[in-house]
Amino acid sequence: MKLQINGKEMDVEAEGDTPLLWVLRDDLGMTGTKYGCGLAQCGACSVLVDGVVTRSCVTPLDAVASSAITTIEAIEETDLGKRVVDAWVRHQVPQCGYCQSGQVMAATSLLKETAAPTDDEIRAAMINLCRCGTYNAIKAAMKDLAGTSETADNGQGLHLGSAGMVAGGVAVAAAAVAGTAAVRSKGRNEDTGSEGDA
Ligand code: FES
Ligand code: FES
Repeated sequence: MKLQINGKEMDVEAEGDTPLLWVLRDDLGMTGTKYGCGLAQCGACSVLVDGVVTRSCVTPLDAVASSAITTIEAIEETDLGKRVVDAWVRHQVPQCGYCQSGQVMAATSLLKETAAPTDDEIRAAMINLCRCGTYNAIKAAMKDLAGTSETADNGQGLHLGSAGMVAGGVAVAAAAVAGTAAVRSKGRNEDTGSEGDA
């Protein structure tokens, strides 16, 4: 089967009912997309399918065979994705980083649909789970991107320190968003058959 992933056609040898997440991580080695619950509950596995945030752990290959799939590895190749990642770094959103690939995909999908979402729209769309509790930082970054924050993005990128932000190193944030944080999750890997770092 051929899949369109991050602008490239990729050959995949898997049954049509195989979850997309399994193929991304285990067959293609694209481990920026994370395995959390496997039950469409947490959002860690989120990717974009034709621009719409989609939980890849419950999405069979057959359902995306003719779609454009975007993963965290390529999110910065679009202007919007780059803006989201920059805001995540500016607001130091990630802590452990595990959920942040999915959070960035959810944010990008919302902003693609609605350039200036209201607080209610942000609350409704940003429902991925974060065990580190980065929700206040996510909200600050989203309001920045929506232009509804007192410290809204004016292109200067100087908005650190808003109330509710969770401290974390910029380098850690950048690495986590890019899906390269060295977060060990041996248990997860055993579940998905992956080897090595999460
Ligand atoms: S791993 Fe897909 S929603 Fe949790
Ligand atoms: S689970 Fe650690 S940053 Fe969200």
